Amino acid sequence: MLPQSMLRTCHLLVLMLCVSAIEDFDWTKNDHGSFYYGVFPTGFSWGAGGSAYQTEGAWNVDGKGMSIWDAFAHKKGKIFLNDTGDFSCEGYHKVKDDISLMKDMNLKHYRFSISWPRILPTGIKNENINEKGIRYYDDLINKLLENKITPIVTLYHWDLPQILEEKYRGWQNASMVNLFNDFANLCFERFGNRVRHWITFNNPWSIAVEGYETGEHAPGLKLRGVGAYKAAHHIIKAHAKVWHTYDTQWRNKQKGLVGISLSGDWGEPVDISNQRDIEAAERYVQFYMGWFATPLFNGDYPQVMKDYIGRKSAQQGLGASRLPVFTAQEKSYIRGTCDFLGIGHFTTRYITQKNYPSGRGNSYFTDRDLAELVDPRWPDPGSEWLYSVPWGFRRLLNFVKKQYGNPMIYVTENGVSEKMMCTDLCDDWRMQYFKDYINEMLKAIKDGVNIKAYTAWSLLDKFEWDEGYSERFGLYYVDFRDKNKPRYPKASVQYYKSIISSNGFPNQRELESWKGKAIETCSSSNQLLAAGKSNTSHYRKLKAWPVHDEV
Ligand code: NOJ
Repeated sequence: MLPQSMLRTCHLLVLMLCVSAIEDFDWTKNDHGSFYYGVFPTGFSWGAGGSAYQTEGAWNVDGKGMSIWDAFAHKKGKIFLNDTGDFSCEGYHKVKDDISLMKDMNLKHYRFSISWPRILPTGIKNENINEKGIRYYDDLINKLLENKITPIVTLYHWDLPQILEEKYRGWQNASMVNLFNDFANLCFERFGNRVRHWITFNNPWSIAVEGYETGEHAPGLKLRGVGAYKAAHHIIKAHAKVWHTYDTQWRNKQKGLVGISLSGDWGEPVDISNQRDIEAAERYVQFYMGWFATPLFNGDYPQVMKDYIGRKSAQQGLGASRLPVFTAQEKSYIRGTCDFLGIGHFTTRYITQKNYPSGRGNSYFTDRDLAELVDPRWPDPGSEWLYSVPWGFRRLLNFVKKQYGNPMIYVTENGVSEKMMCTDLCDDWRMQYFKDYINEMLKAIKDGVNIKAYTAWSLLDKFEWDEGYSERFGLYYVDFRDKNKPRYPKASVQYYKSIISSNGFPNQRELESWKGKAIETCSSSNQLLAAGKSNTSHYRKLKAWPVHDEV
């Protein structure tokens, strides 16, 4: 913890920097605070999303195999309150209900993921195809289409078949490239006549860093300084292989698109007049989104990653860089394998230069030679890491435009959470977040960034990985204590609906009326939720939770 006086000084420093940043921000016509009234291009697609392990439940139903998340969550001490995704939102059994929620919001698309072990219980195509699993996704896709909602389908949202982890050490092993390609090929074969938008991987940064470097996520390996780079290397090759498979075998017939969804926080230099901070902030973004985007758009890792990791590896006395190398052939195979770029964005950091002398303790984090800071005044209603900094979104989008040749962008995740104990459905912090972030996205479109779609994250409250159910990202509140997992609309449902029906922000007067309308609807949902609660025997548990927390 920093002493109060130091915090205050940092606070002031950051404030001063913000002010000067506004003046120097030359590619914007507006400062951070100004609101831009206007509408999105015709045909802009508004959606919401979720993922298999986070929402489906039914972990061992109808022939599904185990995933690394089933195994990880079942181990004690890995997930907050030892919760699991065993039942989650019971999405597997509620396809119809959930589609009617989407329909009510007038969503144009829904983003979901296919659980690999649900359709290939042993992970391997030649061994056993689980037709019941296929039927579930068939049904989901068909019902979406019947309701004129476009499915955007992610092939890998982190739930690797457990058996592949046991046999091969998952993404540490190059065999995964072909196995994933077989799985993807099966999906194209079975669903591709109806699905036009494919995302190979969701947020490979998390798969690599949290799965194989810090071990906070499944499979929980702590292979510091090496594991994440290796996992990422295989993921990038797997993505490229799947793109080529689609391109050569399916594209003509199915006429779809294959992209990837990368997450990226924006990194803003603490001192914009200090070259070292500017470079540190650039490094932060390159080590985050650039790690994956640069190979896919330009054929190789960002130069700065090669330099930093290479130099540190040499100083450690290693014969080769801990960052793997692509051969010339691989580079040309990987380059240009993104029909669209999916972006998941939630927050921003201030970045300053900080040296970490290389030694045995090197990790992905120390390889970057930087420190992350936040402005204590940034709102952070839910997840500890998630500060609301809307202007960072516009900067990230412009960065992508400039770095990767203005690719077609689908915003695949954007949203904010609140804490588990919060049962207030009048979520004005989320309305504010959506309003401001979507407005920055609109400004980015005016800057010339090629954004085609926006996906609010998420449709429902759901399993938040190592945080269990303690962080609620949903537009809809899910009462997890009730075994039927009823959904209740938060005020942001109504607010998002207004944005969708106006296709943006038409004028001040209209906008002012949106919030009032949203609050009206949430007051009645609050009553429903309260009534629902008192009807469930689980209600007493709610009172016990803080006691549990104190233990
Ligand atoms: C990114 C992940 O892809 C998603 O599954 C998760 O819900 C959000 N981050 C929020 O933590």
